[in-house]
Amino acid sequence: MGKEVEMIRKHPLYVAYYEKLKQAEHGRKFCCHQMEHLLAVARIAYILNLERNLGIRKEVIYAAALLHDIGKYEQYTDGVPHEEASARIAEQIFAELPGEAFSGEEKRQMIRAIRGHRREREGMEPLEELLYVSDKRSRNCFACESEAACNWSPEKKNCSIVL
Ligand SMILES: [Fe+2]
Repeated sequence: MGKEVEMIRKHPLYVAYYEKLKQAEHGRKFCCHQMEHLLAVARIAYILNLERNLGIRKEVIYAAALLHDIGKYEQYTDGVPHEEASARIAEQIFAELPGEAFSGEEKRQMIRAIRGHRREREGMEPLEELLYVSDKRSRNCFACESEAACNWSPEKKNCSIVL
């Protein structure tokens, strides 16, 4: 189980972008976007998937979570919104995976979820909303030393443990 997800994590494009992002976030006092965050998002999303009986395949949730911030480096360096950069990189990686890894519909859902994960809005698809909620919930603002200086709005911050 999970070989599709490992194919993404080990894909040369993923490795290259992940490494650049890691360098760029070295010493950053605010939220970072590396494995700890990506897997927290995946795990929260999978729990919500079970609680809500959405029936989304585990591999799809983990793949979308792994990819959702992978373009963040381009936002730091070129100002490209990272949801756009991440969706583009995900499409490039998907194009090189073996056909049996994900169905066409699963790939479409993941791209949409990655592109939509930053803003809550009407008509979100289940995976898209899952990624949005899990991304926010993954941040432990109540225990963060940089909370006061962080530009997240008070409504967005997790000021307590949310079950
Ligand atoms: Fe994120």
